[in-house]
Amino acid sequence: MMKQQLEAIRKSALDAIAHCDATEELESLRIKYLGKKGELTAVLKQMGKLSPEERPVMGQAANEVRSALESAIDSARVRLAAAKLEQQLRDEAVDVTIPGKPVRIGRKHPMYLALDEIKDIFVGMGFTILDGPEVELSYYNFDRLNAEEGHPSRDWSDTFYFDEDSRVMLRSQTSPMQIHAMDTMKPPIRILAPGRVYRKDEVDATHSPMFHQVEGMVIDKGVTMADLKGTLNTVIEKLYGKGTVTRFRPHHFPFTEPSCEMDIQCHKCGGKGCPTCKGEGWIEVLGAGMVHPKVLEMSGIDPEIYSGWAFGMGLERMAMGRFKIADLRLIFENDVRFLEQF
Ligand code: DAH
Repeated sequence: MMKQQLEAIRKSALDAIAHCDATEELESLRIKYLGKKGELTAVLKQMGKLSPEERPVMGQAANEVRSALESAIDSARVRLAAAKLEQQLRDEAVDVTIPGKPVRIGRKHPMYLALDEIKDIFVGMGFTILDGPEVELSYYNFDRLNAEEGHPSRDWSDTFYFDEDSRVMLRSQTSPMQIHAMDTMKPPIRILAPGRVYRKDEVDATHSPMFHQVEGMVIDKGVTMADLKGTLNTVIEKLYGKGTVTRFRPHHFPFTEPSCEMDIQCHKCGGKGCPTCKGEGWIEVLGAGMVHPKVLEMSGIDPEIYSGWAFGMGLERMAMGRFKIADLRLIFENDVRFLEQF
């Protein structure tokens, strides 16, 4: 009777273990058959009812079943671990033959390409490159540049102010960098300060509310307007090629005296007049002049000993000329089809 029970347990247990395909299931089978309340234990508890002759025989038979089950469970455990590893290796396999996703390599924006060239030229002439704040005090943007209260450029309709009393603003020009330079350096000074500037302009083919300028300034003994023109003409020829035609027109800026604007002959029409130059034949690229004695004085530099010149060029315009770009909006739109050409 007991022998049959043992045989039945062995058969069903070995069968279940052979078909088991998860480690958790294997553990419940072990508990089911070999655990304290398991089936084999239950049979062994009946041993007391047997005769003394039968007891060792059945004991041995029960032990055989136990060790058969134990070794079946052990080898099932090994088999399941191997299968699990196998599955994991299959799941995590990398197919090195699948083509990768192409990474698009960007390029430097043409305006920054032009700026790199401009910086190189000026660094070669001994200029130091300066960086400065875009959020500026009107004290530096206007007062120290000799643009008094009531000067039209200070108007709220032209300038982005942050506060009611017009003290803090987005700089409308890079010229305040002249003042920062004079406040922190001693002559001789040769600086170049590129950066963003902001004005309340509508967007069209030649205007944007944010654009870039490059400010330049030299302060030394015996500096003249001839040095200014010579330097700028040299830079323009290096940038646009020998024989590029420029012209200087008288103008007015509060911080220079005398003041001028420099035009370059239109790259698009060669001076005949076209939409790019608005029919003028010339494109205005910068304002310049001799640093006003009042500005030098406010910065603690004696105008009897030192003189200086300065300019502020429009970087977008310079880049348009350098790469023969017809519309300013192309510079800001960042259309990849346009940018890829440089
Ligand atoms: N800051 C002027 C502007 O934005 C340009 C300028 C004119 C800069 C004359 C200068 C200068 O340094 O000397 O229109």
